[in-house]
Amino acid sequence: MAPASFDTIVLGAGAAGMMCAIHAAGRGGRVLVIDHARAPGEKIRISGGGRCNFTNTGTSAKSFLSGNPHFAKSALGRYGAADFVRMVERHTIPYHEKTLGQLFCDRSAKDIIAMLLDEMAAVGVELRLGTRLETIARTEAGFQIGLEGEGAGPVRASHFVVASGGKSIPKMGASGIGYQLAERFGLAVTETRPGLVPLTFGDDVMAGFRDLAGVAVDARVSCGKTGFEEALLFTHRGLSGPAILQISSYWRERQPISIALLPQGDLADRLLRAKHEQSRKAIGTVLAELLPRRLASHLAEAHGWTGPIGEATDKGLRAIAARLGQWRLQPTGTEGYRTAEVTLGGVGTAGLDARTMEARNVPGLYFIGEVVDVTGWLGGYNFQWAWSSGWAAGTAI
Ligand code: FDA
Repeated sequence: MAPASFDTIVLGAGAAGMMCAIHAAGRGGRVLVIDHARAPGEKIRISGGGRCNFTNTGTSAKSFLSGNPHFAKSALGRYGAADFVRMVERHTIPYHEKTLGQLFCDRSAKDIIAMLLDEMAAVGVELRLGTRLETIARTEAGFQIGLEGEGAGPVRASHFVVASGGKSIPKMGASGIGYQLAERFGLAVTETRPGLVPLTFGDDVMAGFRDLAGVAVDARVSCGKTGFEEALLFTHRGLSGPAILQISSYWRERQPISIALLPQGDLADRLLRAKHEQSRKAIGTVLAELLPRRLASHLAEAHGWTGPIGEATDKGLRAIAARLGQWRLQPTGTEGYRTAEVTLGGVGTAGLDARTMEARNVPGLYFIGEVVDVTGWLGGYNFQWAWSSGWAAGTAI
């Protein structure tokens, strides 16, 4: 069978792949997108609790981890949050800002998938689902590719774009194929690790807070010099919540994390004031006015902070404040790719052109989205990287 001919073949119908296809086909190219999943954009569908935190209005390269902190600047600078929001508004998708510049769909993440599919259809992108890449060979004119599954058959293209995502949530179709392809074509791949993932702790630590599962509290969680002030959540398996997910991307094995409960406001001052103004109240009761009740009574019991606050010494109250402001814990690990939102590391940025995402050593080969060693914080940054890098490749092809 003679191979069907395309200008561009994109591996992966996720956020980055669909965005790239829209722009590559928008410039007149014949574009094929293949995906082994049964539906496109599965991660978009489950993202943001089903409402997709599709971008962050404060996006800048500072909110990304990468071997080269400058690499993302070009794509993010040329196609930013405002550009994606314009597309969302053109499709009259209702959205709102939740917090910290995070934009979410009002109705459902499916609105974003429908928008991308509409845009692809409008420029004639062909989509083959349930289709796997079997073989790929470089030729004079580009790439000769063998496909298996529902869209089986030989195909060829001048440009091949790898948009196959990272390793997180394997049961949703994540695979390591992008990293294998990079290595096969001679590109370096940096160490990959689960990011934006809950942290786990040994039995000794868990014994101290297992009965707090479900309690959420504002905290500043730090590791080394990096810290995030957001909510922390106690779970049956360890600690989660935005502050923990954020710091998990910076945490390395054997490093401790430190947690400051009530990061805003001077806790020592508040306790000393309560000693005079509410002297008959138990310390635990005063703490329960500042912290979730279950956490306050747990802490009071665990540390023996009993008796009326009026009878406590100033030194003792300052020690309580210091303890709550500087809680050091040693995680034993993370929950891994099973629950991680992203994969840290990936295709090394040194091998890619930051303007076009094209491999420096293989003309016509591109890597975009999560498979690249660019990982955003929690809060819509990772989708923005998918849109920006997809746009950069799509408009360069
Ligand atoms: P993505 O993973 O989206 O797409 C890759 C595609 O390639 C998939 O369709 C996959 O099936 C396909 N593929 C993989 N291997 C293949 C193979 N061997 N053959 C054929 N096809 C293959 N980010 C954010 O900014 N805001 C948010 O609200 C969230 N929320 C969120 C929740 C959860 C639960 C997760 C797991 C992740 C998030 N994220 C997020 C992160 C975000 O989903 C992620 O960064 C982007 O989906 C990455 O887009 P890509 O297109 O690079 O990969």
